[in-house]
Amino acid sequence: MEGMTLTTRTLGTGPTALDVSALGLGCMGMSEFYGTTDEGQGVETIQRALDLGATFLDTADMYGPFVNEQLVGRAIAGRREEVQLATKFGNERAEDGTRLGVNGRPEYVRSACDASLRRLGVDHIDLYYQHRVDKTVPIEETVGAMAELVEAGKVRHLGLSEASPATIRGAHATYPITALQTEYSLFTRHVEDEIVPVLLELGIGLVPYSPLGRGLLTGAITQTPAEGDSRATSYFPRFQGEALQTNLALVDAVRSLADAKGCTPGQLALAWVLAQQDVLGVGVAPIPGTKRVRYLEENVGAADVDLTDEDLASLERAVPRGAVAGERYGDMSSIDA
Ligand SMILES: NC(=O)c1ccc[n+]([C@@H]2O[C@H](COP(=O)([O-])OP(=O)(O)OC[C@H]3O[C@@H](n4cnc5c(N)ncnc54)[C@H](OP(=O)(O)O)[C@@H]3O)[C@@H](O)[C@H]2O)c1
Repeated sequence: MEGMTLTTRTLGTGPTALDVSALGLGCMGMSEFYGTTDEGQGVETIQRALDLGATFLDTADMYGPFVNEQLVGRAIAGRREEVQLATKFGNERAEDGTRLGVNGRPEYVRSACDASLRRLGVDHIDLYYQHRVDKTVPIEETVGAMAELVEAGKVRHLGLSEASPATIRGAHATYPITALQTEYSLFTRHVEDEIVPVLLELGIGLVPYSPLGRGLLTGAITQTPAEGDSRATSYFPRFQGEALQTNLALVDAVRSLADAKGCTPGQLALAWVLAQQDVLGVGVAPIPGTKRVRYLEENVGAADVDLTDEDLASLERAVPRGAVAGERYGDMSSIDA
């Protein structure tokens, strides 16, 4: 593990392309949603990630809210040049955490960016995403405001998250979009149908979030998480009741293949996502999330797991597309479709 450095991958094309580490690090769970948090441990995990070459860091203003960006800022202080720093705006929250809805209005885009820069303690963001599409604001207006941030030097590249093909097209016509961040894993493959062809046509990269199925695919989760963890709620149907039992049986099948391959189920699941770059033909850079050095080190090891065509076919049989039980969100109303 010491001295190993991840390779890089390219998201987007031409002058708006961005090189990132093949595997990034999702920082969300360090501050909210997945059980207890420990800021010092989060900082340590980020710094270890940089040491191992996992330099593509993912945060958002709404994680915490706000404190996740501060945590990331503290962790990268003095090491800014090593990092490809991605954050997001658009899920507006009050200081006390209350959700205020999706906001894509130009004046909000400007103020959200300034606030993120302040919290992160940096003078620019490498990849700035709209976290959720505001269906009340034309995408051209939101992306127009984002493009002004590029002109002002506050942002280097633009991204969208959970955007529909029509939104991606409208956005890209306004200013070249470098990456789409959306859920993608052995358990969540809907993007292959209508989204990926648009990314391919427009030269946009894919940043798969929740590539470990929010932890399920690691095999570490064997029951519904304890109260206080968002996965214990009906917002995440895959972690509840019968659906969970069906999904755990799929994870068992992944574990059998991983045992035969000499890696962990989580590493196999990440190696599958990494392998999709060649299958899909677009740049793919997943951002597995963890708040622990031990898990991070395991996840980075996935970059060394080479999958043969036979391995990919075995995985396809073990987890057929659509075999997962339960919707990915209990409430899909904020998803642009
Ligand atoms: N754009 C969006 O709407 C959106 C939505 C969700 C997430 N995201 C981003 O994507 C990132 C990753 O997604 P995610 O965190 O939801 O899901 P994920 O990466 O699929 O899974 C994270 C979960 O897996 C656990 N885990 C990670 N590595 C492990 C290992 N080696 N062994 C056992 N357990 C392991 C983590 O545990 P610990 O927490 O205990 O470390 C955590 O509970 C987030 O951090 C966030 O930055 C974006």
